[in-house]
Order: sequence, then C-alpha cells, then structure tokens
Amino acid sequence: MEAKRPVDLEPSVRVEHLHVSFGGREVLHDLSAQFAPGEITVILGRSGSGKSTFLRALNRLNECFPGSATRGSVRLKLQGQWRDIYREALPLTELRRRVGMVMQTPHLLPVSIAANLALPLKLVLGLPRREIPARVAGALKEAHLWEEVADRLDAPAHTLSGGQQQRLCLARVLALEPEILLVDEPTASLDFRASLKVEELLLSLKERYTIIAVSHSLSQARRLADAALIFRDGSVAERLSREDLQAPDTLQALLEEIF
Ligand SMILES: Nc1ncnc2c1ncn2[C@@H]1O[C@H](COP(=O)(O)OP(=O)(O)OP(=O)(O)O)[C@@H](O)[C@H]1O
Ligand SMILES: [Mg+2]
Repeated sequence: MEAKRPVDLEPSVRVEHLHVSFGGREVLHDLSAQFAPGEITVILGRSGSGKSTFLRALNRLNECFPGSATRGSVRLKLQGQWRDIYREALPLTELRRRVGMVMQTPHLLPVSIAANLALPLKLVLGLPRREIPARVAGALKEAHLWEEVADRLDAPAHTLSGGQQQRLCLARVLALEPEILLVDEPTASLDFRASLKVEELLLSLKERYTIIAVSHSLSQARRLADAALIFRDGSVAERLSREDLQAPDTLQALLEEIF
C-alpha cells in the first residue's frame, strides 16, 4: 500500500486575493490558494483561464509586460523566512533564482550545453570559475541528463532532442538552487516516452521542492499530482486531492470542464 502522506503540510506558498490585469483587463480575479513543500500541485484549466499568468505572478514575471498590474498578496517561505513578494523589496534576481521557472517551450541560449548552465552560475551567482564544472555536473545529474550528455558538454545545446532540451532547462533552474519550481506545460511538445521521462524527473524532485506544474493532460495530472487546482476564467473553480483525481466520476466531470 502507498505510504500515507502527512495531511495538512505547512504551506510554503500562500496566495491571497490575487488580481492580475493587463492594460486594464483583469485576467486573474481574487484568487487564493496555497501550496505545500514536498508536493506537486498540478494546475488544469482551459486555454486562456490564467494558468501561465498565475505562475508568473509567483516570481513577479508579469511585470516584464508593460501595462500589467498586480494586487493582493503572495507570500513565499524562502530560506525559512516568509517573504511578502509584492510588499517587500526583495531583489528580483534573488526572487527568480529562488522561484525557478521552466517555460512551455525550452528557451536555451545559442551556446554549448555546458555554457547554458555555466553562464547563469557566473552571472547570477557570481560563482568562481573553478567551482562551475562541479556545479554543472551536479545539476545535469539532478535533471537525469548527465549520462546522455557527459561526453558532449561542448556541443551546441540546440543539438539536443526536445525532451533533453526541456531537462536542460530544468537543470539550469536547479543549478541556481531554487526552493520553488514553476513548470508550465513541460511536456507540451514531447512524445509520450520523453514526457514520461520528464514526469519521472519531477516526481524524483518533489521531496526537495514545492512544485507547481501546469498541464493540459488529465492523465498526466493523475500520474503527477498530490493536489490539483482547476482554473476557470481566472479563478480557482475547484481543488482536488490525489484521491479525487483518481475517481472515475471526477474524471468525467473534469473532462467536461477542461476540454
Ligand atoms: N502579456 C499579456 N498581455 C496581455 N494579455 C495577456 C498577457 N498574458 C496573458 N494575457 C491574457 O490573460 C489571459 C490568460 O492568459 P494565460 O496565458 O495566463 O492563460 P493560460 O491558461 O496559460 O492559457 P494556455 O493554456 O493557452 O497557455 C488571456 O486572456 C490572455 O490573453
Ligand atoms: Mg499558458
């Protein structure tokens, strides 16, 4: 039998009354949710329901778009301390390093596999040159990519397959030692086998991070999620437990809601 998870884990992310708008049009309305460490929460919902906007609200990435406005509170437990990210002057590079994000399409730099990891280590962390190779190898191992690339670290990153590129993006985030991982449809452009590999990776990471993942696949949500949030028109319509997700009648209701 599966080991029982501790109930009511102390959350590490608390979102209260979050509103986000672009050019005066509100797309997230009074959204409240919380997320626990050691768990994967999957966000499901129709296209345009605000899933990506929500992820970006957790590391203040919406601010990259002119005309965006955010109200409400997002509190994150980072290095054991609660930080109110819209009220405190937390440096954005520090915030985005601690709240790492992997986008739907891999955004790799047009440099080698190793340099994709080494550059942020140098530029964001200011790591001395001699410490970089060990850190690069560590991140590639953590992202289950090391064995596939160890003999071609100097090859251009774009020569990797789609699934490998996605894992390299994850490795790049992991190298910066985040505490919260945001993953936006990490398997959207991958075949089934490559998707399963990314899923396995996320499952192996969840003990050590708070993971919030957007997915368009209900079967993926059932494989990954400890909890799921169903987004509808910029709000959370429903929160489901792992057990709810496995129930056949929930499945039918969700299929109708999402697709
Ligand atoms: N930078 C932006 N400027 C203006 N409007 C935006 C911006 N980003 C998102 N929106 C709008 O916010 C709404 C939610 O978009 P979002 O990308 O969060 O949806 P989503 O649930 O991630 O959709 P999908 O499943 O298609 O990725 C949409 O109406 C979208 O047009
Ligand atoms: Mg999206």
